[in-house]
Amino acid sequence: INRRFALTAAGLLAALAIAGCGKQEPASAPAAGTPAAPAPARVLVVGTDAAYTPFESQNDRGEIVGFDIDVVKAVAQKAGFEVKFVNTPWEGIFNSLAQGDRDLLVSAITITDERRQTMDFSQSYFDARQLIAVRNDAPIARFEDIKTLKVGVQNGTTGDEVVGKLLGKSNTAIKRFESTPLALKELEAGGVQAVVADNGVVVHYLANNTAGGFKTVSDTSFPVEKYGIAVKKGNAELLARINQGLEGIRADGTYAKIYASYFGSESK
Ligand code: ARG
Repeated sequence: INRRFALTAAGLLAALAIAGCGKQEPASAPAAGTPAAPAPARVLVVGTDAAYTPFESQNDRGEIVGFDIDVVKAVAQKAGFEVKFVNTPWEGIFNSLAQGDRDLLVSAITITDERRQTMDFSQSYFDARQLIAVRNDAPIARFEDIKTLKVGVQNGTTGDEVVGKLLGKSNTAIKRFESTPLALKELEAGGVQAVVADNGVVVHYLANNTAGGFKTVSDTSFPVEKYGIAVKKGNAELLARINQGLEGIRADGTYAKIYASYFGSESK
């Protein structure tokens, strides 16, 4: 019995030694009397409005998946922190960060000067632009043409902002929805005649949720929007780690791989 135990123990030690090779941990356990190792770092809570395919959505098993999710997972791995994702409605998402209920946000969030006043953003990880969705037969060639239509937007988004500028913020022709899919559903149902939202989401929705009948209209007057990961204002330490992680996954090709798996090989 002793001999078998000794062999097993030796095997175990060998396995531990191999497992330990990749990590930068001391080879030996701390001796009695040495101060306890620091408590493991807290798992950081990531807020995301998971109704935004292909950036963030919930799959059949209730897991939060998407391009943003893969990017943040890779960033966390690179920078050495742990994350868990919590579905957080867009309406309260910025508040949840300010209150400290979420440590960071990834939600296809466009970096804007206004938002910069109340939160800090990582370097940008994705470029987007507004895109107009209308029925195929709608006589719409550019943004100005939607002036006479009922227009659906997701409340409080950059789409809401540009449409508000064109039509007037309090124009009742603007229908504001809790989520972008709800606005697009209303377009299908005929309750609105146009939707203005981020290009990636509009294209994905029309291709996967409608049987055709809708087209997109782009307009060069829409500015390029940069998505960033948000942290609470002043959380410079976390921000630095996120940026370090983003640089790391760009440098080692992980970002390009993730990008290609969602959008094809063209990676920025
Ligand atoms: N990029 C737009 C904005 O920042 C829309 C983002 C909406 N994201 C979401 N997951 N619902 O305003």
